[in-house]
Amino acid sequence: MDLHVTLHGRTDLSGQIYRQIRAAILDGRLPAGERLPSTRDLAAQLGVSRKTTLDVFERLLAESFLLSKPGHGTFVADGPQRMPQTQPAPQQAQPSPLWQAMPPAQALQPRSTHPHDFMGGVTDKTRFPFEPWRRCMNHALRLQARGRGAYHDPAGEQELRLGISRYLGFNRAVASQWQDVIVTQGAQQALDLLARVVLQPGDIVAMEEPGYPPARACFTAMGARVVSVPVDAHGMVVDALPAQARLVYVTPSHQFPLGMPLSLDRRIALLEWAQRTGAVIAEDDYDGEFRFEGRPLDALKSLDRAGLVAYVGTFSKTIFPELRVGYLVPPQSLYGALVKAKQLVDWHSASLTQAALARFMLDGDFARHLRRSHKLYEARRAMLIRHLTGPLAPWFTPIVAMAGIHMTALLKPGIDEAAVIASGDAVQIGLYGTQRFYAESPPQPALLFGYGEIDVAQIDEALTRLATALRQQVPVVT
Ligand SMILES: Cc1ncc(COP(=O)(O)O)c(C=O)c1O
Repeated sequence: MDLHVTLHGRTDLSGQIYRQIRAAILDGRLPAGERLPSTRDLAAQLGVSRKTTLDVFERLLAESFLLSKPGHGTFVADGPQRMPQTQPAPQQAQPSPLWQAMPPAQALQPRSTHPHDFMGGVTDKTRFPFEPWRRCMNHALRLQARGRGAYHDPAGEQELRLGISRYLGFNRAVASQWQDVIVTQGAQQALDLLARVVLQPGDIVAMEEPGYPPARACFTAMGARVVSVPVDAHGMVVDALPAQARLVYVTPSHQFPLGMPLSLDRRIALLEWAQRTGAVIAEDDYDGEFRFEGRPLDALKSLDRAGLVAYVGTFSKTIFPELRVGYLVPPQSLYGALVKAKQLVDWHSASLTQAALARFMLDGDFARHLRRSHKLYEARRAMLIRHLTGPLAPWFTPIVAMAGIHMTALLKPGIDEAAVIASGDAVQIGLYGTQRFYAESPPQPALLFGYGEIDVAQIDEALTRLATALRQQVPVVT
């Protein structure tokens, strides 16, 4: 790597080089152990005499900034010369007050290192068909190599939008044309775009409580006031919606994180309410494709006659979150503004990934993968229910969700969440509470059991061990 040194004029060249290398070492741009170019190369690079660079190196060696290893080169010496951090510069760049106060969307949750882990929000990569995916990636690479360099459509690659639109029609009963779909970087960007085009600072956004913190953070970052709306056994309590809400964020298929679906009555009430108030509804259907029992409830989007629901989906739960592909099917009236916002934010999502995913969908690999995953998750969910309603029933009341890849279980009155998590920890089981999903109201002690990554035999073994540990360590309150 070239060492970046800028020289002005023709005087004091060695002083200029000396000061710049020294400053780079002091502020850490040149870390300890970094090898410097030879004096000969540096002289040639800067267009100065070899004597000049030799003088600089000698001085830095004498002051212990550099270290010479004969036969190997000259290196940045280890630390003592680094200056203690002094007062911050008076004119440091600062984020706006809003961003200074912004919490992270979601602290990257530290994962347990336990072999049995109920982390939510992750999928089973060992079961992902990487071979077909590789074929699709190769296909995408060939396409990429053929085309001329150009920015693509901000709304996304046509083939992928077609794949998504067909999939939504078939799987989620959401009717759309490919022209209605906008490809995004995950559901998170879909929410961000919606917030940009719908909200003004000070607007009210209604969110379920408990709810999905990254959505809350996204609306807060737009300057909105997020108002929590309680949920009960039927999902969001529509009667408690603030009349002035401009946007309502809701997870109707599988309330996040508790799991109950929004009942049909509530869906209709929500749509009627939105028609009266003109509010936009963001329907986050993040894991509704995995439905295991009960009559399927239509997506809000498919009941929406007035054009108020923006449907948000993601491949994070069906493929894996690192893919960063999601989508939006907005009301027609918002479509143009959303595409402009998408272009403004990042021009378009990566066309290579889009093309590979389109192939994956249109070749039938995605449908096959979903069918296999569905079977796996169904067995895992059944095992979880068997334990939570059987040997673990003295401690837990599961909220038996019909869909999704996690299940939340409330703790029986008087049982301490931290004590249960600690008991799991002691027998090498990673358990996770739900406290961090509450913004305002006192959290109801509960655990979220993700079964995206833990297989059925591991669930059986882990929960058998957990029951034994709890019997010894967490007395049941009677
Ligand atoms: C409620 C909810 N929405 C959306 C997502 C997925 O977001 P993304 O597509 O940005 O990965 C998740 C993932 O955990 C989620 O829990």
